[in-house]
Amino acid sequence: MVELGEEIIRLEHVYKIFGPQPQGRAFDLVKAGYGKDVVLQRSGHVVGLNDVDFSIKRGEIFVVMGLSGSGKSTAIRTVNKLHDITSGHVWVDGTDVQTLNGPALQAFRREKMGMVFQHFALFPHRNVIDNVGYGLKIQKVDKDTRDAASLKALSLVGLEPYAFNATQELSGGMQQRVGLARALASDPDILLMDEAFSALDPLIRRQMQDEMMEIQNELQKTILFITHDLNEALRIGDRVCIMKDGLVVQIGTPEEILTQPATGYVAEFVQDVDQGRVIEVNEVMAEPQPLAPNLSLRDALTSLDGRSGAFTVDDAGKPIGLLTLADGLRVTGLGSDDVSAALRTDFDTTTPNATLNEVYAAAGRGLPIAVVNEAGELTGDLDPRQIMEEMGRVESLIDMYEREVFM
Ligand SMILES: Nc1ncnc2c1ncn2[C@@H]1O[C@H](COP(=O)(O)OP(=O)(O)O)[C@@H](O)[C@H]1O
Ligand SMILES: [Mg+2]
Repeated sequence: MVELGEEIIRLEHVYKIFGPQPQGRAFDLVKAGYGKDVVLQRSGHVVGLNDVDFSIKRGEIFVVMGLSGSGKSTAIRTVNKLHDITSGHVWVDGTDVQTLNGPALQAFRREKMGMVFQHFALFPHRNVIDNVGYGLKIQKVDKDTRDAASLKALSLVGLEPYAFNATQELSGGMQQRVGLARALASDPDILLMDEAFSALDPLIRRQMQDEMMEIQNELQKTILFITHDLNEALRIGDRVCIMKDGLVVQIGTPEEILTQPATGYVAEFVQDVDQGRVIEVNEVMAEPQPLAPNLSLRDALTSLDGRSGAFTVDDAGKPIGLLTLADGLRVTGLGSDDVSAALRTDFDTTTPNATLNEVYAAAGRGLPIAVVNEAGELTGDLDPRQIMEEMGRVESLIDMYEREVFM
């Protein structure tokens, strides 16, 4: 657990109204307590933020969660003054952001914060390291210093070996990592991340969440993270702020949100966590690593490299046998060095879109499960420990919730 410091960001009674006369009738209506729908109807103005008030502590991962249109992006954009606000104050490290303009605002953004968005626009004609160092280049940092900082940031996201590749050669997940490295390159105190992982495949997305939390542990940044996904919010947030129609509905730790949902709206969201029970296999499985053919048993066991087992595949890529560490050691103990003597064929198979519930029983056998596609080819390795760990995490959150709500 990170030791949290003093407040570094504060939105203080912030209102943001979109339209030609934000200070006019629309604002009066909002102040009188009317909601977004009524204000739109009566004034033609859109309520972006309605008396939003929260503060974020140094070192915290603060997640703002809500449905599309609830005001999340508007909120994050007030922090770097991509939006002017209608009323209130936004404080960042003691500075009233709204007072900044021109070069002072530019400098403030560059020095204080890095930003990562859902669709991170990388320059296609620049290689990876130049993309990462671009912000530093604008700051007129010399090339050697810039490259050193960029390589360091790339190593944080595991992309150092790709520094001189063209960005188009990278997968979507890797490009998003480059985006994160770019935000980290100038070593800002604050990271602003708006739906940064929302466009990624579930498996990659979880890896990115894990990596971000590791980076956070190491560097102790302050992260304001926006998502529409409650599972993601509960997974990574130190605290979660739930928004609806421009209003803050609840702020709390993941446990507080789950156990003491402030309103029916939050409770409904929380029931969706039930979907944790329908987490799909593809979110938890690992890349398939079938056993290389013609290995001795000893070499095959070495190649497991900490995994509890691996599958053998036929010429068509279909799994035909399973070598587990336990079986292998037993057969070696009997003096054999023949892989086939240790292979078992009674392994379970499943599909990428099966739910963890569906493989729960099979996982109870403690054997790796083969994930196969429609053609029957091995597309993933599913470690029973992963399943139990993931389900355990979700179940304990749900148990806590149900105890509080239904007893
Ligand atoms: N520039 C704008 N002009 C008018 N309305 C806007 C503008 N930006 C956002 N809005 C409105 O403000 C509300 C909040 O939007 P936004 O903060 O983007 O939501 P979220 O990020 O939660 O999906 C929405 O109703 C949206 O239509
Ligand atoms: Mg948004």
